[in-house]
Amino acid sequence: MSFTTRPFSNVKKLTTSITAALSVFFVVNSHAHVPVQLGKSSVEEVISAMTLTEKVKLVRGTGMAFATGGPQVGMTKDKVHGAAGTSFAIPRLGIPSIVFADGPAGVRISPTRDDDKINSYHATAFPIATLLGSSWNVSIMEAMGKAVGEEAKEYGIDVLLAPALNIHRHAMGGRNFEYYSEDPLISGKMAAAYVNGVQEKGVGTTLKHFVANNHEWNRDKIDVELDQKTFREIYLRGFEIATKESKPWAVMSSYNKVNGEYTSESEFILTEILRKQWGFDGIVMTDWFGGESAVKQMQAGNDLLMPGADHQNPQIIAAIKSGQLDESILDRNVTNILTVILKSQAFKQYPYSNKPDLKAHAALAKEVALEGIVLLKNNHKSLPVKSDVSIALLGNSSYETAIGGTGSGDVNEAYSVSIEQGLLSAGLTLNNSLTTAYKQHIKIEKENQPISHHPLADMMPKAALKEYEITADKAEQLAKKHDIAVITLGRNSGEFVDRERQDFYLTKEENNLINVVSNAFNDAGKSLVVVLNVGGVIETTNWQDKADAILLTHLSGQEAGNAITDIILGKTTPSGKLASTWPVALEDYPADKGFPGFIIDEKSEANSITGSRPSKVVYHEGVLTGYRHFDTKAQAVAYPFGFGLSYTDFSYQNVTLSDISFNETLATGITVELTVKNTGAVAGKEVVQLYISAPNNGTNKAENGHETKPKKELRGFVKTRLLAPGESENISFKIDANSLSSFNIDKNSWVAEAGKYTVHLAESSNNVHSSQSFILKSSLSKKL
Ligand code: BGC
Repeated sequence: MSFTTRPFSNVKKLTTSITAALSVFFVVNSHAHVPVQLGKSSVEEVISAMTLTEKVKLVRGTGMAFATGGPQVGMTKDKVHGAAGTSFAIPRLGIPSIVFADGPAGVRISPTRDDDKINSYHATAFPIATLLGSSWNVSIMEAMGKAVGEEAKEYGIDVLLAPALNIHRHAMGGRNFEYYSEDPLISGKMAAAYVNGVQEKGVGTTLKHFVANNHEWNRDKIDVELDQKTFREIYLRGFEIATKESKPWAVMSSYNKVNGEYTSESEFILTEILRKQWGFDGIVMTDWFGGESAVKQMQAGNDLLMPGADHQNPQIIAAIKSGQLDESILDRNVTNILTVILKSQAFKQYPYSNKPDLKAHAALAKEVALEGIVLLKNNHKSLPVKSDVSIALLGNSSYETAIGGTGSGDVNEAYSVSIEQGLLSAGLTLNNSLTTAYKQHIKIEKENQPISHHPLADMMPKAALKEYEITADKAEQLAKKHDIAVITLGRNSGEFVDRERQDFYLTKEENNLINVVSNAFNDAGKSLVVVLNVGGVIETTNWQDKADAILLTHLSGQEAGNAITDIILGKTTPSGKLASTWPVALEDYPADKGFPGFIIDEKSEANSITGSRPSKVVYHEGVLTGYRHFDTKAQAVAYPFGFGLSYTDFSYQNVTLSDISFNETLATGITVELTVKNTGAVAGKEVVQLYISAPNNGTNKAENGHETKPKKELRGFVKTRLLAPGESENISFKIDANSLSSFNIDKNSWVAEAGKYTVHLAESSNNVHSSQSFILKSSLSKKL
């Protein structure tokens, strides 16, 4: 330091300390007159007025009620009964407590309250996410978001714990029903639409479970091993799209580890990727009791620990006192939380009514269901049927229709409509004695169901009820009497466990039922329709020949029966398409090898409630998941990704590409245009899918030294409006550099390789209508 600068530097120091002293004086002084209050004072002022204990209080929720056996999500009686969690209020600083509630298919709160015997607090059960993904309709998704947002607002909920957008990696993933697709573009676009809809109502959303939480087995202890390319292109991509195309208030880190580190403790995932690379500016919260070290979570950028537990306070305070955790990090996390609280309805003191418009939302729930029901087979136009037909309605699930999943994805609806009720209220004729027999059988089967002693049993899916037996003689009688047979096969879905392998296959009783009914009705020249009331994928190849039509209805929400009836009668033409591949066998999934993982140490102790033990799963299939695998390896499937039939036909006309070479200086490099025409006899909607094959596609690193590239990848989709017979719609897609890029590990960036790109316009991944190519002259590379 030179002589001349010394006095200057001293003056600066002096000025700084005078300013500091004055500001302390003014803050303190202003406290004396105007108390620091959130909203009136700046967030910085509020934080400077907080004690360390208060700050720590704010970064953890108020905890969770415990029932006999274990913690019960949704048991809280704080503020909104049955919500998943709340934050602490700090009244002296004007900080209210905010309420968090699930979830993906609608608001999950208690429908009744001990202290209120007059009112009920039901919410609308919308269809599950698998149906929503199969709708390929972002507008209906946004409309549903608005309705869920309004319900949340009217029930005093500040932040919804939805949408959930993990990837369907394997059919046995227990929570696949809560997720949209095996493809990140659909997942990201659907999640963004949901977020935009909910948040328009002033209620926050939470993207979950961030990230690579694709199975339930040992979910809170499992380590997911994957490479950066797979991580970026498949598992992060949907979250990236949703973060950038909507502005979610929150993200929920997942239970699992990724490459050795809990996601909730990973600064790389939560700060470097989520905030720095993607620009996320909301709060990150843990999944309920997720991760291990509150201190590491704070450091990583996991602002809020949910549902919150008392032991977390001393941990954080001790780390700050010892210098292990810098208080500025705690301040940063508190800032994020306060910023969300400032936006909340609780802060605005919104006078919620507890009376959302359930009637209007029920009508919307039906409309949503109609968008995602998929017609898988329809020989001899067996469907639709006329409204004067008489139906032999078979299968337990026709009478006891599952409308949603269990666990935190469940909703407490006021009523639900079974398939039987839907058909009856549309005036169809059923068989009374068959109905009585089924109802009696279901009652007995329910009474005889094994009792589970699992601590979380109440929230777990119940075993499917054994099918009622129909003998060959009985089937013949039914075939004489009725015009058509409808058999509904059902599968429950729920949180906490993956599906058992046998759940994929039909049971002996289900196979018998299909065999005898198919024989009898076909002999009588009549059709058999099989309805799949399932939360996930099941085996179809072995029996699909016996059915004339197959309708995949998923778990279609409280209006299930009415929506399914509309499709059966042709009041609505099916327009859903599969958002995940239906394989021939479970072994066909590349992820099946080593699924769901292995226990790292056989002697390790299991968590007393969840039963989880340290374990590991390797995503050895890399980016080749779902159709990326089946398509690239030309492996036969039962029903391909993007597949779904209609009651009408469409033609794709006038396909044009704006250029034959990609111009990176234009905002959108290439525009693809086409006209879709309804060439059939009834009104319908079509989902147009745009796939791109990049240079060196269909190869993997081992084969050619290039990055692994699937044969083609979905890069855009549009669902048309309802087109009357003969009517057309012009559609246009914009292809930008992102649509050409894949993640290059060596360069640690997104790269669009120079070469020939082929654009495919398709009605499913296996049915391409037209393909045209363009050239990218030199490689493009995008920094992270
Ligand atoms: C689930 C989350 C849910 C939370 C609160 C956890 O068990 O994994 O998805 O939001 O509970 O209900």
